[in-house]
Amino acid sequence: MLDVRGLKKVYEGSGRRVEAVRDLTFSVAAGELVCLVGPSGCGKTTLLRCVGGLLRPTAGEVLLAGRKVDGPPPGMAFVFQEYGRSLFPWMRVGENVELPLRRKGLGKARRRELVADALGSVGLADAAGAYPWQLSGGMQQRVAIARALAYEPEVLLMDEPFAAVDAQTRADLEDLVRRLWRERSMTILFVTHDIDEAVYLGERVVVLSASPTVVREQLKVDLPHGRDQVHTRVAPRFAELRTRVYEQIQAAKRGTERPVKSPLPRQG
Ligand SMILES: Nc1ncnc2c1ncn2[C@@H]1O[C@H](COP(=O)(O)OP(=O)(O)O)[C@@H](O)[C@H]1O
Ligand SMILES: [Mg+2]
Repeated sequence: MLDVRGLKKVYEGSGRRVEAVRDLTFSVAAGELVCLVGPSGCGKTTLLRCVGGLLRPTAGEVLLAGRKVDGPPPGMAFVFQEYGRSLFPWMRVGENVELPLRRKGLGKARRRELVADALGSVGLADAAGAYPWQLSGGMQQRVAIARALAYEPEVLLMDEPFAAVDAQTRADLEDLVRRLWRERSMTILFVTHDIDEAVYLGERVVVLSASPTVVREQLKVDLPHGRDQVHTRVAPRFAELRTRVYEQIQAAKRGTERPVKSPLPRQG
């Protein structure tokens, strides 16, 4: 569904040159939920912006279902970290969710249906008439998720969407993402700096190095599909996987050239 090939991004301007992403190659299959994890400043947002066609890569390319991404493609939706800045404060929740559907040229009845369905899915069926600033941070991020869902994207890109909410809300939102992914069989690329979150959410974790960024390792998360905050997080396999990712990220920060060699034990 999504192919990132040799992606490189160098920011240039005002006498400064920052090589944010050096050489990234990975792909995401249709219907897969992949987490990208890497230290802060390693270029995760840069990468997602390139994937979403919001930023032009310096080299390399992104393919969505075989077509080269060259500007924001119609089949992608974004959920950003700063929910406070991603919703329009002067529009009601329902109107915020509906806005991209107008751009899509859908009729009024269909738009209403999609908005109601999406808000219902995130547990905000009653909030359509409220303004974003009347809602808590976690609820605002639910609205942003509903807006993405209503759009019915082929691929959902999420950039550290829960970094700014409290731990309990975050746990709830993680479970919401897993549930929506399973119910709607979407393709999701989820970016986070949080190792536990990456392992808990992903079917696969792509570990990024520190900037200038390359793919350090890809790890299949062989935890059961049905996950829950209480049992999954204390499962021995969860601990093994998070330790593995942690070691890779620590090694990346130290700038170790070669990946840590300790083999990941097979699940038995
Ligand atoms: N518009 C920009 N101009 C110049 N440098 C940038 C710009 N955006 C990000 N950077 C730099 O690129 C690197 C990666 O940033 P970013 O993609 O935001 O990382 P992350 O999302 O992983 O924290 C950082 O060194 C950052 O300072
Ligand atoms: Mg970022």
